[in-house]
Amino acid sequence: MTKLRVRGLTKVFGSQPRRALELMEQGYQRPEILERTGQLLAVADVDLDIDEGELFVIMGLSGSGKSTVIRMLNRLIEPTAGTIELDGEYIDALSPAGLRRMRQQKMSMVFQHFALFPHRTVGENAAYGLKVQGVGEDERRARAIEALETVGLGDRVDAYPHEMSGGMQQRVGLARGLATEADILLMDEPFSALDPLIRRDMQDLLAELQSGLDRTIVFITHDLNEAMRLGDRICVLKDGRVVQVGTGPEIIDNPANQYVEDFVSDVDRSRVLTAEQVMRAPRRTYRPSDSPREVLEWLDEQEFNGVYVLDDQERILGVARDDRLVKGIRDGVTRVGDLVIEDYASAGPDTLLSDLAAIAAHHTVPIPVLDREGRLLGVVPRARLLGALSNEEVPANA
Ligand SMILES: Nc1ncnc2c1ncn2[C@@H]1O[C@H](COP(=O)(O)OP(=O)(O)O)[C@@H](O)[C@H]1O
Ligand SMILES: [Mg+2]
Repeated sequence: MTKLRVRGLTKVFGSQPRRALELMEQGYQRPEILERTGQLLAVADVDLDIDEGELFVIMGLSGSGKSTVIRMLNRLIEPTAGTIELDGEYIDALSPAGLRRMRQQKMSMVFQHFALFPHRTVGENAAYGLKVQGVGEDERRARAIEALETVGLGDRVDAYPHEMSGGMQQRVGLARGLATEADILLMDEPFSALDPLIRRDMQDLLAELQSGLDRTIVFITHDLNEAMRLGDRICVLKDGRVVQVGTGPEIIDNPANQYVEDFVSDVDRSRVLTAEQVMRAPRRTYRPSDSPREVLEWLDEQEFNGVYVLDDQERILGVARDDRLVKGIRDGVTRVGDLVIEDYASAGPDTLLSDLAAIAAHHTVPIPVLDREGRLLGVVPRARLLGALSNEEVPANA
């Protein structure tokens, strides 16, 4: 369900936006508009549909208009044009009182620099948004403690910010956003100032929190890897315009233009692409009653080491490997089902390529991809995995 619907959202910085809007409508881009009118088109005709419970990432280089977009969502910056609908209510048309209520109850903003109050305790800092909302003292404390527990700081309620590391302070800032129980969290590069290890921790924490909550999060970053790690969907901005919206894998697989392609060329593909996206149908599979000799002949022909034997539910019974088959045939075994080895690794459709690579290192047959019931969906041969990791076109027959 759409939580936030944005149409034609536009911001011109400057005293004569009209002329800039005209040029925008004629398709001119930011640099020409600046040159001709002296007006800065920070955000140009942005449409977004953000679903309830989604972690929606807005990504772009510095100056692409990310902060301006997110600040227009709660009208910290007044749009020059466009509409913003939250749960069917037009935010752009709210009175000052309505706007205050919306900011208190529905949208909470988490900034890049969390700016904790140094003379207030961690608990008071975490409860700050609630105080603004007019929540009573006892409930404020209870909710702040709960939020601090969520970020692993339940025992530091009475500490002061200077007694904590930078990473812990950042957690307090996150707790402050969580404590408000706003439907939507707006996060403007909240982790950009953190060093890489703490940043990873915070990303993991946010991803974990998000999966347990039904909050909608609009998250801004200029870091593609962060976007790919966190975003259910990602919106790529360039010079104030939306260039592409899609899931991480969709964007990597199908960049909308050269700009996006250049952007994604250095992403860590192993942490974005999943088994489902690189698997192919198995060349063939066998049933337990098939003849070991026939299976061995096929393996020889294909120059494969092994093949999967499935039961009638399409679940893997095991691998028929050439060395075992040779020995079994010599011993007079007539059913391949009696020769399979159950020692094989497997992956799920959502397994990341980085994890597949670790499995593949110890695996001589293509890695099977299984659904929840253990049925074979496809296989990932090593060549295909390496191709996908190295950004090469995967040959169709790999
Ligand atoms: N208050 C302002 N007045 C004039 N120009 C601004 C103002 N705020 C931002 N800009 C300009 O608008 C463009 C988009 O800025 P911003 O939204 O902050 O980008 P980002 O957050 O992606 O770095 C930039 O060119 C920036 O210089
Ligand atoms: Mg910014």
